[in-house]
Amino acid sequence: MPRLKVIGGNVLTGEVAASGAKNAVLPLLAATLMMDGHSTLTNVPNLMDVNIMIKMLNALGVRAEYHRGHVKVANLKKVRHIAPYELVTAMRASFFVAGPLVAKTGYAKVPLPGGCSIGSRPIDIHLKGFECLGITHKIEHGFVELRAKKIIGNTVYMDFPSVGATENVMMAASLGEGTTIIENAAREPEVWDVGQFLVGAGARIEGLGTSTIVIEGVPTLQGHEHPTISDRVEAGTLLIAAAMTKGDITVTHVVPEHLEPLLQKLKASGMEITVNETSIRARYVGVLKAVDIETQPFPGFPTDMQAQMMALQIIADGTSVVTENIFENRFMHAHELLRMGANIRIHNGAAYVTGVPRLSGAEVKITDLRAGAALILAGLAAEGETIVHGLQHLRRGYDDFPGKLRTLGAHIIE
Ligand code: EPZ
Repeated sequence: MPRLKVIGGNVLTGEVAASGAKNAVLPLLAATLMMDGHSTLTNVPNLMDVNIMIKMLNALGVRAEYHRGHVKVANLKKVRHIAPYELVTAMRASFFVAGPLVAKTGYAKVPLPGGCSIGSRPIDIHLKGFECLGITHKIEHGFVELRAKKIIGNTVYMDFPSVGATENVMMAASLGEGTTIIENAAREPEVWDVGQFLVGAGARIEGLGTSTIVIEGVPTLQGHEHPTISDRVEAGTLLIAAAMTKGDITVTHVVPEHLEPLLQKLKASGMEITVNETSIRARYVGVLKAVDIETQPFPGFPTDMQAQMMALQIIADGTSVVTENIFENRFMHAHELLRMGANIRIHNGAAYVTGVPRLSGAEVKITDLRAGAALILAGLAAEGETIVHGLQHLRRGYDDFPGKLRTLGAHIIE
């Protein structure tokens, strides 16, 4: 199993660029299934999950290839309807192909996406949205079969502002007939980015970034070039590294307003934050105070930065209450941080984190992508060596994270 050795104690300083967003590029790639002709996605991060989605597209009949930060897709003939089992179960985001496939061909057979370590990850909101659009579904033998003679615009109320369900329904409705209104839609920047890609292909969508998205169906969509939005989670993780190591880091190629919830918390902690048009600087200027973290759908504090902020709280001054409202099992990193000397008590669904004066390096294991980032951050602040096992989780969603930390002065051996 691939692992990392992190030798703690270095102060991280310097400048580093954020990559394109994993949580945008995966649905963007799925959307190319609906677009005729050639599409090119730029600013694409080099991730295992991107490779899986590219394999998925090729298995469905389009020709997709990754080359130096670009993915070129040629959708020149009829796409196939059945998504391969081994790819969907390898990455649940493959379920994003469901909406595009049924919109494009009237039929899709997609394996039920598995749960993962952070939760059961149901798809009921996706299916309820599809039903509103006249897409029937049948679940058997571990597959979801979707059928629609034609997709009819309708009002879709999301019981929860699910990111994936908003993207899947928005994509399906783009090739429907008539008007679809998605109420209580997710407002995440990645949803906005998928909507922009669809609009550039000829879709008619209003309200992106708000909780009410209005889609006027069109008969066809035309492939085109689109830049993947910057990864706000990777950028936030790098800024937290400045706080953890009492350093001074500037992250470039970012959209600052997409990180506002995190910046507010870093400022409240006592970090000096400087924002320019496409860059953010986080500088340590004195003792960091504990801050409470409560995850919410965007524009609330993102669940994907909860683990990383918990890692900061374990060395902050005071006690922080960390509440995870999005996923039912996203505190596994806490058990690993305890092995490094953290003081965390989980009670009634919240984590009570009391800062400790020092952390000690230990052997730890990554359970999910963002937990992995949190453990590496803790290793940077710990005395001695931290051996981080389960690196494959990290490579799914971070583009050379250890390498970026090394450019900032981290002592990390792969
Ligand atoms: C996306 O997952 C992201 N993944 C996740 O990032 C992110 O944590 C999540 O949005 C929330 O922001 C991608 O975009 C590839 P949801 P998604 O549907 O779409 C429940 C990372 O680390 N729910 O908004 O699956 C669900 O169980 C990953 O980069 C239903 O109950 O998230 C969860 O509790 C992790 N029924 C909550 O909603 C449904 O049909 C939020 O899920 C769908 C979701």
